[in-house]
Amino acid sequence: MTELITGIGELTTHDDSGERRHDAALVIGDGHILWIGPAAQAPAADRQTDVGGRAVLPGWVDTHTHLVFGGDRSAEFEARMAGQAYAAGGINTTVAATRAASEGELVATARGLRREAEAQGTTFLETKTGYGLDVASEARSARAAAQVADVVTFLGAHIVPPDMDRRDYLDLVTGPMLSAVLPYVQFIDAFCEQGAFDVEETREVLLVGRAAGLGLRVHGNQLGFSGGVRLAAELGAHSVDHCNYLEPADIDALAASTTVATLLPACDLSTRQPFPPARRLLDAGVSIALATNCNPGTSYTTSMPFCVATAVLQMGLTVGEAVWAATRGAARSLGRDQGADAVGSLFVGGRADLQVLNAPSISHLAYRPGVPLTASVWRRGVRVDSDVRCERQGAQTTLGG
Ligand code: NIG
Repeated sequence: MTELITGIGELTTHDDSGERRHDAALVIGDGHILWIGPAAQAPAADRQTDVGGRAVLPGWVDTHTHLVFGGDRSAEFEARMAGQAYAAGGINTTVAATRAASEGELVATARGLRREAEAQGTTFLETKTGYGLDVASEARSARAAAQVADVVTFLGAHIVPPDMDRRDYLDLVTGPMLSAVLPYVQFIDAFCEQGAFDVEETREVLLVGRAAGLGLRVHGNQLGFSGGVRLAAELGAHSVDHCNYLEPADIDALAASTTVATLLPACDLSTRQPFPPARRLLDAGVSIALATNCNPGTSYTTSMPFCVATAVLQMGLTVGEAVWAATRGAARSLGRDQGADAVGSLFVGGRADLQVLNAPSISHLAYRPGVPLTASVWRRGVRVDSDVRCERQGAQTTLGG
């Protein structure tokens, strides 16, 4: 079954030309993109969908979420909005609720959040463990995560649980816990921050993970100058996430490395942290990604459009830079921006992961902040949005406004 998508007002592919095209059509089939070219030369297909002048772009790639959790922290959020500071220790509340939940409940919560993300254009998603913090609970979280996400990260080094000795816990994370999660995870991460893990502890965790075949990610410089950013760059981590507090030497280290700086604007708003210096990072040549950091403590949103709008309106990115960071830049932070497995860009032979906006251009993502603009979403060539109004006319579908 092939599908021709026509009536595209603006097509963003993130191919190497970086152009937005205004005369293009595309054909998808078997989960892939089969053809992209001028609409006037489009080949015939089994069915045709006219998107009525709307913008088409790659689906969002959300590379930082913590979807496997139990419980609720709205009271902590409300207290924070009344002036209380965020501290890493809040994680313990979610750890207790996660341990108390069944695996079925954890999967159901995570699935619900993934569906919510898909309805807003997210077609590829990473999630982490990190609210279990004992061997059985981390293994259960990893198993649950693997049922829901495209990529899973082991975050046993999220915080030292209150009932454990520091050294004993590190031995657990780098030993039996790592072995228990290994069948389900592709990356290892550590929260390098005051109140969580210091640079040498983070290094130990990451190196053991690397020796086990995992890619590296770091939570770094979220609440202060933790040293996590420079460690990530030194070790060639795929990504260092947060990056709110950066010294010039941190930016230089990132610019000289292949590490992507993943920025989390919804988290910065929800914790009232200063935004990272996104413009300085870009000007120094650092690759950046945007992600939601969906979690019950610091950023309870699945909305990539909200993150894109905030990055433009508050962090100084252009619309094109923000959309790139939320798609191809994000894919780069997972090592998935090139080759047959690439996500976050539209090219012939690549995955048919795309979205249509209820708008003529991607500029509307920031120009109309807070407005639900996702019209329809295809993941591996299959429509995953359910509530789009369509007028079916035989084999032809017209997207309704
Ligand atoms: O990315 N920074 C560490 N981990 C999460 C917060 C988790 C929590 O407070 O529950 C984050 O913001």
